[in-house]
Amino acid sequence: MLLFLTLLLFPLLTLSHPPTKRPGHGHRPPYHPPHHPNMCNYNAPGSRYFYLSDVTYESHIVYSTPAHLAVSYANLDFNLTNNAAYDASCTGSSSGGPSPVYFTWPQLQSCEEADGASGNATWIYIGYEKNLQVNETWTCGGHQYLGYGNVTLNLECETESWNNPNWTMGELYHTEDVTCKPISLPLIPTVVRTD
Ligand SMILES: *[C@@H]1O[C@H](CO)[C@@H](O)[C@H](O)[C@H]1NC(C)=O
Ligand SMILES: *[C@@H]1O[C@H](CO)[C@@H](O)[C@H](O)[C@H]1NC(C)=O
Ligand SMILES: *[C@@H]1O[C@H](CO)[C@@H](O)[C@H](O)[C@H]1NC(C)=O
Ligand SMILES: *[C@@H]1O[C@H](CO)[C@@H](O)[C@H](O)[C@H]1NC(C)=O
Ligand SMILES: *[C@@H]1O[C@H](CO)[C@@H](O)[C@H](O)[C@H]1NC(C)=O
Repeated sequence: MLLFLTLLLFPLLTLSHPPTKRPGHGHRPPYHPPHHPNMCNYNAPGSRYFYLSDVTYESHIVYSTPAHLAVSYANLDFNLTNNAAYDASCTGSSSGGPSPVYFTWPQLQSCEEADGASGNATWIYIGYEKNLQVNETWTCGGHQYLGYGNVTLNLECETESWNNPNWTMGELYHTEDVTCKPISLPLIPTVVRTD
């Protein structure tokens, strides 16, 4: 069992500082034409609507000795649908200390946009408040628009801890994995024209 865990986690041990920008889900999201391509009036009911799907959060801690924190990071991923523009696929990572809270400072993260996208999607996650801010820019009728808003992520998470009962040098000492159930939620953005 211990050998199995050691082998399983060994590749992670070299990864004490994972890149903050991870590769996306592997391919760009499909392009969905906006529902109202020529109506750039976002005051109309139903004209502005973000949907965040498959919001997944996980974190991992590995101590290779009682004193050495070898691995400590969290990932947050989600897909963004905007009924006024294009879809985006968002992935981000935060490395940290032994604290169970990651994304402790406002770090601007960017999403991978659908082919044919006319702007950028960005986000900031504040771990202490579980607050996710999402922005997307796009063009409509020759003008530029920004949609922005924030939501609190009510994540339901499970923590799995493992301790090596009789640790010796060369074995893992402690691991802790937090995984949360994927959630989906709407976000009604504020939309402003920026040109
Ligand atoms: C999220 O986007 C990726 C990339 O387009 C896609 O493969 C995946 O199925 C999407 N997930 C959901 C829940 O829509
Ligand atoms: C999107 O962001 C990139 C840099 O991250 C910038 O070069 C590009 O002009 C932006 N596109 C739009 C439409 O704002
Ligand atoms: C969203 O846009 C607002 C206004 O430009 C800006 O203050 C904020 O930092 C942006 N947030 C993100 C996540 O890009
Ligand atoms: C989050 O959204 C609320 C309205 O829903 C707004 O009052 C608040 O200023 C926003 N916070 C941030 C950090 O953008
Ligand atoms: C811990 O391991 C050492 C060396 O293998 C062994 O001598 C000792 O009995 C073990 N202690 C426990 C509590 O299993």
